[in-house]
Amino acid sequence: MVADVVGAEAAVPAEAVTRPRIRVQGAVKSFSGRVVVDVDDLVLGDRPIQGLIGPNGAGKTTLMRMIMHSTSLDRGRIALLLASGGEVALSALPPNRMAGHGVVKSNQVIMDFDKLTIWDSLLLAVAEARYEQPHRIASERTVFDRHEGQIREYLEYFGFADPAAFAMSAGEKKLLDIVRCLLLRPTFLLLDEPTAGLPEELTEKVMAVVRDLAAGGTSVVIVEHDLNVIWSLCDEVLFMAEGSVILRGDPQAIRENRTVVEKYLGEGHV
Ligand SMILES: Nc1ncnc2c1ncn2[C@@H]1O[C@H](COP(=O)(O)OP(=O)(O)OP(=O)(O)O)[C@@H](O)[C@H]1O
Ligand SMILES: [Mg+2]
Repeated sequence: MVADVVGAEAAVPAEAVTRPRIRVQGAVKSFSGRVVVDVDDLVLGDRPIQGLIGPNGAGKTTLMRMIMHSTSLDRGRIALLLASGGEVALSALPPNRMAGHGVVKSNQVIMDFDKLTIWDSLLLAVAEARYEQPHRIASERTVFDRHEGQIREYLEYFGFADPAAFAMSAGEKKLLDIVRCLLLRPTFLLLDEPTAGLPEELTEKVMAVVRDLAAGGTSVVIVEHDLNVIWSLCDEVLFMAEGSVILRGDPQAIRENRTVVEKYLGEGHV
């Protein structure tokens, strides 16, 4: 009993882990003259797991793509604030340099994985992140050796029976995209609807992996319409509507907030 109490006091609380953060300043994006993201000053990564929620079309995916530099900014600046101090101007980096700084994003709509086997697509992903030439992957023993064990572990964890097969269902592709992100050892992970379409058992597995990552010091921002995932996973929830984050707070406060109920959750929500 006493030993337990001493142990708890000696443990480093999650909040004491220094995490990388991302700062978005004056970031605007329009499509065909219509502003879809307009973020004045937003810092992400203050808490281990942050949820980003809001109605369809609020700009959540676009904001994440702007952070990853896979959608260009009309104007503004996005910086990675390193845990060690100092910063990297993400908005000046090409997208393929992001993983080298630990910033990794899963995709809402998965388009890869059709032409390569499960195994090859994951090896290619880790090889690309190391700026290798993809055609050299077959002869790149170090890429293989370094990642083989971990790829096998993740595939087994998520129930992929045959790595030599092709990913077939949307759910399998979604999980593979998450495995790809995990293999890149992110320090800042952005997840865009990672559990959409997954059965409950696999949703739980994804959540467990996210919790582990966050406990190890990775900052996680997750967009998800399955609010059970958001309420049970997140330390803080940000509410986005019409291109801006208009509210943030702990999950319970956001869940009960009048504006969130009116604009998104609807009356009588869970
Ligand atoms: N490439 C594009 N070209 C034109 N319009 C776009 C493009 N990408 C996004 N939009 C528009 O920008 C707005 C914001 O879209 P975005 O995908 O960021 O919303 P979201 O919050 O992720 O929505 P959802 O919850 O449905 O995924 C939408 O009106 C969308 O139609
Ligand atoms: Mg989206």
